[in-house]
Amino acid sequence: MRAGSSRGSALLETLDRQTEAFRADVLAGLAAPIPAIPARWLYDRRGSELFEAITRLPSYYPTATETALLHHIMPDIAARIPKGAAVVEFGAGSATKTPILIEAVAPALYVPIDISGDYLEQSAIELQRRFPSLEVIPVTADFARPLTLPASIEHLPKLGFFPGSTIGNFVPWSATDLLRRFRALLGPCSQLLIGMDRVKPVDRLMGAYDEVEGVTAEFNLNLLRRMNRELGGEIPIDAFRHEARWNDILSRIEMHLVATRDVEFSVSGQRFRFAAGSTIHTENSHKYGPRGSRVLLLAGGWTPVAEWTDPDQDFAEILCVAEPERFAP
Ligand code: AVJ
Repeated sequence: MRAGSSRGSALLETLDRQTEAFRADVLAGLAAPIPAIPARWLYDRRGSELFEAITRLPSYYPTATETALLHHIMPDIAARIPKGAAVVEFGAGSATKTPILIEAVAPALYVPIDISGDYLEQSAIELQRRFPSLEVIPVTADFARPLTLPASIEHLPKLGFFPGSTIGNFVPWSATDLLRRFRALLGPCSQLLIGMDRVKPVDRLMGAYDEVEGVTAEFNLNLLRRMNRELGGEIPIDAFRHEARWNDILSRIEMHLVATRDVEFSVSGQRFRFAAGSTIHTENSHKYGPRGSRVLLLAGGWTPVAEWTDPDQDFAEILCVAEPERFAP
């Protein structure tokens, strides 16, 4: 891994900017007519650990299903990826699925991008240890905002990797924005391997997002704890409870924090009041059918070329290409 001399201060600067962005989103989000906080703020260090714990729950099918699927289809995928490519992973986190891809595709360079800086560094070091000849350049950034890739990837064939159905966190219009941004970032003829969770019976969906173990509840409530930790908030955590809802018309699971009583508190010196039963919307997890997923990708500038699912069709892995723009059909 590369270590620049100014890395320490650069990391501090990044953390500082992140806190200010968090503050801005929280203050605007809590004051909005429909209170909502962008889901990316769920992933501080503690949040990333809790999400990691969620992925090990028996009822949280996406991770185990996608991991098994990736193992199964990797020879097929590797045959379609040029050797010596640069793999750019969006929202790398702990990057447990990455070794499966790296092993099979044997890229020259790996660029994990994640908003959770210390978590990213740690998993990058582990990956570097496992693949000594691979160049690893972690980038701490919010991949939904403008960013620059390391210059050394420029001449390599590029493969974007966006597993975990993270795309489902974005409402379709911002999902297409994001996909188009990936396209602009990676360039024409690059490829994208993306995981998307499928629509399935509501009881299974609810079982994955409101499970008996209560880890998802803790994951959701950690957002309030983070506000208290980082923004000088004074939110009584026990005044809120986790709720998962299936929104059928919008085809998504929603996470909310529901006020269990009338509650008033301050964050960053600003007062907020929530009536009993009112909610803070904290996450969307969109689920797509086979046609819908491909239309979304096409609208985002990515042409699907191959698609794989597990036997139960719970989860889909789609390989796309950024076709150069054409003058006519
Ligand atoms: C990381 C966005 C894919 O939506 O399933 C898990 C996050 N939220 N349980 C998902 C999540 C609640 C997860 N993603």
